[in-house]
Amino acid sequence: MIRLEGVSRTFLAEGREVTAVKDITLEIFAGECLCLIGKSGCGKTTTLRLINRLLQPTSGRVLVDGVDTETVDPIRLRRGMGYVVQSGALFPHLTVRRNVELMCRVEGWDGARSLARANELLTLVRLPPEDFAERFPSELSGGQRQRVGVARALALDPDILLMDEPFGALDPVTRHEVQQEFRELEGAVNKTVVIVTHDLAEAFLLGDRVALMAEGEILQVGTLDDFRTAPAGPRVQRFLEQHLEGGHGQA
Ligand SMILES: Nc1ncnc2c1ncn2[C@@H]1O[C@H](COP(=O)(O)OP(=O)(O)O)[C@@H](O)[C@H]1O
Ligand SMILES: [Mg+2]
Repeated sequence: MIRLEGVSRTFLAEGREVTAVKDITLEIFAGECLCLIGKSGCGKTTTLRLINRLLQPTSGRVLVDGVDTETVDPIRLRRGMGYVVQSGALFPHLTVRRNVELMCRVEGWDGARSLARANELLTLVRLPPEDFAERFPSELSGGQRQRVGVARALALDPDILLMDEPFGALDPVTRHEVQQEFRELEGAVNKTVVIVTHDLAEAFLLGDRVALMAEGEILQVGTLDDFRTAPAGPRVQRFLEQHLEGGHGQA
């Protein structure tokens, strides 16, 4: 489905070259949920943006369904990939319905079709449209805003959903609730999902597999069992020890 082949990305920051992503090779299978995890600054967001071509690789290739994304119109590419960021990143001056419909309108759908789609999506994320459609984002809780962000990303029924720390801004109780809901939703919609998180418990709760990154590289990709039984070296071991103590009974 998605394949990164020897992908690197460098940035120039104040005249200095920073390698954000270093020779990553990673395959994300159709229908799976893969979590990218690692400390702040290790290259997670850069990797996600390389997938939907908000960034281009300095070297290497990104393939989606076997096609080099370099050869695809980036706007078309992104329409096939929902993108969710922290707190939903809604437009504050648009109602919930307008936020959800946004991409439908961009695609030229008429009002009735867009409205029907918005209602369907709001119902899917458990925000009954009769209560929520005409509210503004400021009239929602953090968890509700996040659900609207997910609904918006699903508007054009993309095969791929990319999420960057989607639950990072929520308080622990809401976060747990939204994680559980997302897990059910994910099972129901059957998308290929890539989630960036720095929370290992969340990664193992939501991910079929987890890719652990450090300093722009992938240290290990696998299931919770793989990490537990065969951690790929002392850096992985240390990360697990620091981040797993007691904290993930739900995984
Ligand atoms: N546009 C940019 N210009 C310069 N440096 C950047 C840019 N984007 C990311 N970086 C650097 O690349 C590294 C990885 O960043 P990022 O992918 O955002 O990490 P993460 O999402 O894991 O916190 C960091 O050192 C960051 O400062
Ligand atoms: Mg990031």
